[in-house]
Amino acid sequence: MCGIVGYNGKNQAAEILLAGLEKLEYRGYDSAGMAFQTEDGLVQYKEKGRVADLRKAVDGSLESSVGIGHTRWATHGVPDRKNSHPHQSATGRFTLVHNGVIENYEKLKNSYLKDVPFASDTDTEVIVQLVEHFAEEGLMTGEAFRKALSLLHGSYAIALLDEQAPEMIFVAKNRSPLLVGVSEDCNVVASDAMAMLQVTDQFIELHDGEVVLLGRGGVTIETLEGEKIERAPYTAELDMSDIEKGTYPHYMLKEIDEQPGVIRKIMEAYSTEDGTLTIEPAIRQAFRRADRLYIIAAGTSYHAGLVGKEYIEKLAGLPAEVHISSEFGYNMPLLSEKPLFLFITQSGETADSRQVLVKVKALGYPAITMTNVPGSTLSREADHTLLLHAGPEIAVASTKAYTAQLAVLAISAYCLGDGACDFDLKQELGIAANAIETLTDAKQEMESLAAELLDNKRNAFFLGRGLDYYVSLEGALKLKEISYIQAEGFAGGELKHGTIALIEEGTPVIALATQRNVSANLRGNVKEVTARGANACIISMEGDSEPGDRLILPHIHDLLTPLAAVIPLQLLSYYASLQRGCDVDKPRNLAKSVTVE
Ligand code: G6P
Repeated sequence: MCGIVGYNGKNQAAEILLAGLEKLEYRGYDSAGMAFQTEDGLVQYKEKGRVADLRKAVDGSLESSVGIGHTRWATHGVPDRKNSHPHQSATGRFTLVHNGVIENYEKLKNSYLKDVPFASDTDTEVIVQLVEHFAEEGLMTGEAFRKALSLLHGSYAIALLDEQAPEMIFVAKNRSPLLVGVSEDCNVVASDAMAMLQVTDQFIELHDGEVVLLGRGGVTIETLEGEKIERAPYTAELDMSDIEKGTYPHYMLKEIDEQPGVIRKIMEAYSTEDGTLTIEPAIRQAFRRADRLYIIAAGTSYHAGLVGKEYIEKLAGLPAEVHISSEFGYNMPLLSEKPLFLFITQSGETADSRQVLVKVKALGYPAITMTNVPGSTLSREADHTLLLHAGPEIAVASTKAYTAQLAVLAISAYCLGDGACDFDLKQELGIAANAIETLTDAKQEMESLAAELLDNKRNAFFLGRGLDYYVSLEGALKLKEISYIQAEGFAGGELKHGTIALIEEGTPVIALATQRNVSANLRGNVKEVTARGANACIISMEGDSEPGDRLILPHIHDLLTPLAAVIPLQLLSYYASLQRGCDVDKPRNLAKSVTVE
């Protein structure tokens, strides 16, 4: 979702900002723009479409070392040039980029800006017009900026330029991600450290309600009330190779292949020196004190949460519920006496999940965030963090973060059960990692299967029972988000209660049959659909397969089958997307990090 970069330094800003925006492309966007302070005043460029189009539009001879850039994911107003950022005040003095949503923009327009001509349909424009309004009333820029910010209701990360203060970028943040980067040559601002890793690995976290004056020679962080804040930078431990595609055609394929390594890394990170699996004592305590776990998540993380509930109940004996974050916050169920909240979020920035965290913290309940991004908003605001150690996930379709979530959930549940289980999880995870490796090697087979099953299809169904049902939901999500084939996951028995009406000759049905206790029932459900013409593909597991099964997974522990069963579904979606000529890594309308509700 919208990305922001800003540069104030000794070098030419244009190329640095363009490279930064390219690094933010993964977040999802539909237009891009930049603005620069130059000797001849402010120059801006905006384009609907890709950063590559913006790059073509930029004048190669532009001289500027102060600029801001933005990728926009449309919320208010269609994705077009007029609505792309940056937005300018009526006289052109102020120029601004914004990520977030201003909830009271209509009211602010009516209260303060009745006579101001607006050039766009966005909520954002109200901010820049307000700054100008207060500057015209005689306030200095910093004061006018603060005054405008104090009136905003909603979320924002903002970078603002003032033509009359060309050496400065004015920055503010509330509920939308934003970091400041510092170095000897420049100071920068970015929605994500990876955008500015090209110039520095030293970053300073910003907290909600903070304002930054980003000069070339220094950075001042203040509260909205003007109180100075000292905060030391941290070193972003990102490797450029983690965020490059290398020899892979797409990030998604690279990330699928990284999964065995991620599982092994997680086992190491969650082991004591003598190699025993462990979680932090404080997290163990939090679980121990709880009488029920509430897992809160969105999208793929929600699907991981469904599997996690089984782990927590079966291995740790703690009752657990899983909720979609955007629903839970506005319709809370009756809570148990001692609830513990577990937020599962790859990015650590999802606004839907964050609004729940804010609410449960206000109620005084303990919360843990399971995330891939240390220092992310949900990680900072929860009491504890369980890290995923998956490395940056760039493709919009989540793959390695999902398997990492499953592994960390299994380890947490296992550690809480105090090893009372009748198996060695570490050994079983090792076996699962090897199985994933075997499956990721089966690319050619999955490519042919995608062509055979999904070519020219409008829809596809995924069936499973028990843990396989949860994986079928994830398989369907993967397929629909990147190939645009309408896909749904069903509990095996449920299809015949309505959706079977959609089955016709050749309808693809992908059925997971890895759960031994229900595999006979599942196979019965497959018969029901094939009798009506479906083209069924059964994915089973060694030791419980039958002739005609299309793919047989290497044998792994029953509880860990989701780790392996999801791999062919990820690859199937990848190849279906490629075969349809879709943009695998950047599917239409989607954003990686969804920072608005
Ligand atoms: C977006 C992404 C999904 C992701 C979901 C939740 O919709 O496209 O891939 O699963 O957000 O994100 P989170 O970062 O909270 O796991």
